[in-house]
Amino acid sequence: MSDVTAAAEARWHQLAREVEEHNHRYYVLASPVVTDREYDRLFRELQDLEAAWPALRSSDSPTQRVGGAPLDSLEKFSHPTPMLSLQNSYDDTEIRDFDQRIKRLLGEGTPEALRYVVEPKLDGIAMELIYMDGLLTVGCTRGDGSVGENVTENVRTIRNVPLRLRQPVPGMLAVRGEVVMQAAGFIELNARRVAEGNDAYINPRNATAGLMRNLDPSLPAQAPLRFYVHSVGVSDGLEYDGHAHFLELARALGFQTAEGISVCDGMEEVLGAIAAIGERRPGYPYAIDGAVVKIDDHGTQEELGFVSRSPRWAMAFKYPAEQARTKLEAIDVQVGRTGKVTPVARLQPVFVGGVTVTNATLHNADEIARKDIRVGDTVVVQRAGDVIPQVVASVEDERDGSEQVFVYPTECPVCGTPLVRAEGEVDWRCPNDEACPAWQTGKLEHWASRNALDIEGLGEKLIAQLIDAGLVHDVADLYTLEHRRDALIGLDRMAEKSADNVLAGIDRSRSAPLHRILFGLGIRHVGESVAKRIATHMLTWSALQGATQEELEAVEDVGPIVARAVRDWFAEPRHASLVQRLRDGGVLFPDEEPPRVIAADAVFAGKQVVVTGTLVQLTRKEAKDAIEAAGGKSPGSVSKKTDLLVAGPGAGSKLAKAIELGIEVIDEARLVELLGLG
Ligand code: IVH
Repeated sequence: MSDVTAAAEARWHQLAREVEEHNHRYYVLASPVVTDREYDRLFRELQDLEAAWPALRSSDSPTQRVGGAPLDSLEKFSHPTPMLSLQNSYDDTEIRDFDQRIKRLLGEGTPEALRYVVEPKLDGIAMELIYMDGLLTVGCTRGDGSVGENVTENVRTIRNVPLRLRQPVPGMLAVRGEVVMQAAGFIELNARRVAEGNDAYINPRNATAGLMRNLDPSLPAQAPLRFYVHSVGVSDGLEYDGHAHFLELARALGFQTAEGISVCDGMEEVLGAIAAIGERRPGYPYAIDGAVVKIDDHGTQEELGFVSRSPRWAMAFKYPAEQARTKLEAIDVQVGRTGKVTPVARLQPVFVGGVTVTNATLHNADEIARKDIRVGDTVVVQRAGDVIPQVVASVEDERDGSEQVFVYPTECPVCGTPLVRAEGEVDWRCPNDEACPAWQTGKLEHWASRNALDIEGLGEKLIAQLIDAGLVHDVADLYTLEHRRDALIGLDRMAEKSADNVLAGIDRSRSAPLHRILFGLGIRHVGESVAKRIATHMLTWSALQGATQEELEAVEDVGPIVARAVRDWFAEPRHASLVQRLRDGGVLFPDEEPPRVIAADAVFAGKQVVVTGTLVQLTRKEAKDAIEAAGGKSPGSVSKKTDLLVAGPGAGSKLAKAIELGIEVIDEARLVELLGLG
């Protein structure tokens, strides 16, 4: 700063402090002491000063909240300790069981009334913020819990995130919380997006996810995003004896915590607090999808520890579906999988379950008749979690005679083909499966198929269910499904385990190689082997996207017809937005790897290494990748061919089999050591 005059520097410090103070008062405390005009004047003076003396523009300057230069890509970031998830419960009994279990684990002498903290469960995007010596240095998404994405530049734009802590905290402080979008601002944001010719975001959560992973920080900077602290990752220099105390300290440091948090002694108070949050739920300015009950005392938390990837000392409580009444303005019909026709209710906008609902499913013609739902009726609408809203019933008392019985269409509303209904079926279908959006389903099936993205468990039946439930419309929607786990479990024949398997399969597909993505997109004439040739030739998605006809024709096996088909596909704006949504959903479009040559002396060259039980340091995928990178294979089951078994806590039948077969067994620590990752 040698060029900066002392006067300029002094003024900068004063202004930066003042602007940040007003920010805090406005956004965190909601009690501003200056007018917007006065604030703008100070802010502009600060900007002007930094324009004149660029050396003054530090990372914690309030001017940095408006969004810096766009990034090329998001980098990965490893959480200092894994970000865990919560176990869910759905009724009071399960909460009482949770309390009993804890008491059993703690053993004799445990007081009857344990102290808990009950807080709302925010339905947003989990985020970790890392402060070094009080300065915000990293903001990182949860990712798979071990590794997320570094989205610091986007985090800086969130107005209630302190760029510098309000009190000195030496060393590392990693706080965790939820980024949410304010419900009111969401509507405005969407209106603006639509006016600018973009697609509306589905809900505040999706909007938040998309914005936080955006490469251009000026977009989140304009969105009504907020961050609420709910837990702590690492704390070098901040001491607290319980969760409530931590939250109090966090507030003193400048963070915001959710409204409606209470400290409860014993189960009766806990259940009361859960009910109270439930009652307040419609009035929250952001979506909440439950309550979280946590043991307050830090020592007790440590004693209880974790089971797989959830703490034993915390439990989420999911509220039943929220209902509201509104007017049914019209019924449209949508054509889904293989032409199946689904009636959709167009509703007078109503705020339910944290979002404004304008559409809801009516399932099928028989349902409409059975429930006697008429256009113009007042109807009861329900929404649970992220599930598409449903019309539960009509309110007969509210009729004035002007309501119209719905006349079901006889032709496909998309392509005009007469609809057909097979004997014994409830659904009408459009038989025109070639030209009709029924192909959407086909696309999904192709995407999930073995030689494309190979998503285990995502077969024809499930895809149909997902589309029917309105959970998925195209392949990009698959990557938001993990946030709708509950809805997934609610589907026919979906137990928790099978839902998790599917989600794991979808998650694995995020890092699928480029050639599989290219094949999966179903571009005309691009079969599996052509996709592979193109990908290994182009190596990156951006090269492929920008490739000219000539460049494509230079690829082996690619002639003018294939090249043209690829070019045409990329020229479609809706395909660009599909690709963007896939990216937003975490699909990595990794650079294609040139064929790898593994050294003959690699640790696991030619070896089969099976992994079982719980891993702590590595995720399953990391372990598998590392084993493969070291020349080995990591199949899912133990056989005579297995050379080594890595067994974590909870290992069961595979461990037994390995012992029986006399296979060497090691633990995770030894694996990490062998891989040279320790
Ligand atoms: S505590 C060790 N408290 O829910 C568990 N999580 O399944 C740490 N979430 O994505 C989480 N509100 O980000 C906690 N009041 C709250 C929460 C909350 C929302 C999210 C969290 C994570 C998921 C846990």
